[in-house]
Amino acid sequence: MLRNAAKYVAILSRSMEVKPEISKQIKSFNEGGKHVQHFELDVSDFELCCEFFNSIQNPESGFPKVRGVMHAAGVSDDAMFVDQSWSSFVSTNKPKVDGSWNLHLLTEKLKLEHFVMFSSIDSFGARLAWPGEHITDICNFNQLG
Ligand SMILES: NC(=O)c1ccc[n+]([C@@H]2O[C@H](COP(=O)([O-])OP(=O)(O)OC[C@H]3O[C@@H](n4cnc5c(N)ncnc54)[C@H](OP(=O)(O)O)[C@@H]3O)[C@@H](O)[C@H]2O)c1
Repeated sequence: MLRNAAKYVAILSRSMEVKPEISKQIKSFNEGGKHVQHFELDVSDFELCCEFFNSIQNPESGFPKVRGVMHAAGVSDDAMFVDQSWSSFVSTNKPKVDGSWNLHLLTEKLKLEHFVMFSSIDSFGARLAWPGEHITDICNFNQLG
């Protein structure tokens, strides 16, 4: 997106730690006239998402109106199905389902160009990749629902 027409990108994640090569890339985009900023936000927390959207939609934030969402947040807690726990299901489901829903609620009245969610073909039961990713697959499927 940044290599094409996108000028403003807000990157969200729970932790502000990024790999050095990513920091370098962000710096180089900003030096090239783009506006890329990394924010700490848990997208599964609706109140925090509201606060974030209010702040980024404020003209003083330096960002224009939100025009698109790329929802790639996800965690995997891989293990064979019989070894999975409820807490593993909840923590994997939250960023996918609550995160998608929160971002949808906050952007549904905006004129978006795109709202993209990253799922997996394995959520349809194809089991093409890793045999221990059942919970991740179920959560990807829930997200689509
Ligand atoms: N890589 C694959 O082969 C593959 C295959 C199928 C589907 N996918 C899907 O594609 C997406 C991206 O995959 P990836 O491999 O790039 O994953 P990744 O490297 O693990 O990146 C996921 C990002 O989501 C962030 N995140 C997790 N929970 C969050 C939350 N509650 N709020 C905000 N940010 C959160 C993580 O940062 P923090 O931990 O700092 O929050 C991390 O930066 C995922 O949704 C994944 O399910 C990937």
